[in-house]
Amino acid sequence: MALCPSGAPLAVPAHLYHFTTCGVIRVEATRPFWYTGRRMLKRSCPPGLPMAKRVAILGSTGSIGTSALAVLRGLGAGFELAGLAANTQWEALAEQVAAFYPARAVLCDAEHFGRLAERVGATGVELACGPEAVAALAAADDVDVVLNAIVGASGLRPALAALEAGKTLALANKECMVMAGDLLNRVADASGGRIVPVDSEHSAIFQAMQSGRPAEVRRVWLTASGGPFRSLPLDELDRVTLEQALQHPNWAMGPKVTIDSATMMNKALEVVEAKWLFHLDVAQIRVLIHPQSIVHSLVEFCDGSTIAQLGLPDMRVPIQYALTYPERRPSTVPPADLAAVGRLDFEAPDPARFPALALGYRAAEAGGSMGAVLNAANEAAVQAFIARRLPFPAIPRLVADVMDRHRVVPHPTPEEIDETDRWARQEAAAWLARS
Ligand SMILES: NC(=O)c1ccc[n+]([C@@H]2O[C@H](COP(=O)([O-])OP(=O)(O)OC[C@H]3O[C@@H](n4cnc5c(N)ncnc54)[C@H](OP(=O)(O)O)[C@@H]3O)[C@@H](O)[C@H]2O)c1
Repeated sequence: MALCPSGAPLAVPAHLYHFTTCGVIRVEATRPFWYTGRRMLKRSCPPGLPMAKRVAILGSTGSIGTSALAVLRGLGAGFELAGLAANTQWEALAEQVAAFYPARAVLCDAEHFGRLAERVGATGVELACGPEAVAALAAADDVDVVLNAIVGASGLRPALAALEAGKTLALANKECMVMAGDLLNRVADASGGRIVPVDSEHSAIFQAMQSGRPAEVRRVWLTASGGPFRSLPLDELDRVTLEQALQHPNWAMGPKVTIDSATMMNKALEVVEAKWLFHLDVAQIRVLIHPQSIVHSLVEFCDGSTIAQLGLPDMRVPIQYALTYPERRPSTVPPADLAAVGRLDFEAPDPARFPALALGYRAAEAGGSMGAVLNAANEAAVQAFIARRLPFPAIPRLVADVMDRHRVVPHPTPEEIDETDRWARQEAAAWLARS
């Protein structure tokens, strides 16, 4: 019996494969099949049916990336995995290659690339390394949808590359929208590219917006769980540990976004993200604490109607919607059982408990390069907190001080955004050295 690269039996008609000199299966034709671990899906469809959407997942080894692979496996026919990209986790990437057999896989970090190449071997999966290769995957001709699930500022170049090439960008990497929302919108307008949000709140707004016209929107309400410290006495925040901050009450996420949720910097970033994604005035963006994380966000229209999107806190739902948009497809995620949930609570955020939130409004008001400062200073502060070099309440203080020192560039170029990012990280390092 012929075996696929993961060692499982290969369910491909015999005339479509042959053994390479290394004894490994190579599937014939350019990319006719997507191997899903249990079955092969045909790329060329019967006449009259639409071609499969070819999806690249950037950040495939992370929380969103692995959920996206589960979503693709569930969607099956109509979707093809065109590529995967990760940063350093070469073993996890090699396992994904063996399980999903994408057209290509990219490891950003050069140090471990040799091990990946050795492990993957001559399977016919094209391998590449480095940040340029990640951007090249995002712009590749045989990719229709780029799911950007990279964490942090490294997501910006691939996002730009995808939009410059006119792709649909399914965007989980909120940081790039915060750093360069204006630029990304302009690039998308020029190329015909499209941004579809994956962040659950923005996906909810995107879905609710379909109930009316943009001019009919009065306000949007971003919901926030309040994180693990929503009701902790304020004088105990000073003693909060990394382990406590990593315990999100409702969502299982990567470490950076989990810390951002604890400070509510995550919501601050999302205020800026919402401004650019939905072309809103800052005064139209409001935040509401909703501890159950069932209402993912709301849109208030001019006639007094408020439309919300509800569901379990499970990122597979917004990921799938971004991939299937404008269609909806069945999912294995159950709907929220509202009788079991029992109650939905809402409250205004306390500015004394969550000073980071005001920084998001400040960056959104200032526009230009201030978003890049907010993001870079926060990334540096979170890294320092994770390294136990900074107490929890100092995260927003550091970010605010760096923002105070910045002179805004109104419509920054990609180079000016990079320069601002570098400057803010240097300022943050100097702040940490002084503290
Ligand atoms: N997790 C959630 O539920 C959630 C919800 C809403 C929004 N988001 C947003 O989605 C993004 C990803 O979050 P996450 O929680 O999935 O983060 P995560 O678990 O830390 O995963 C980050 C992923 O990015 C990869 N990566 C980092 N730098 C890269 C680079 N230069 N090139 C290619 N890949 C790179 C990592 O690779 P390695 O594994 O090799 O390091 C990993 O696959 C963040 O912007 C976050 O704010 C997440």
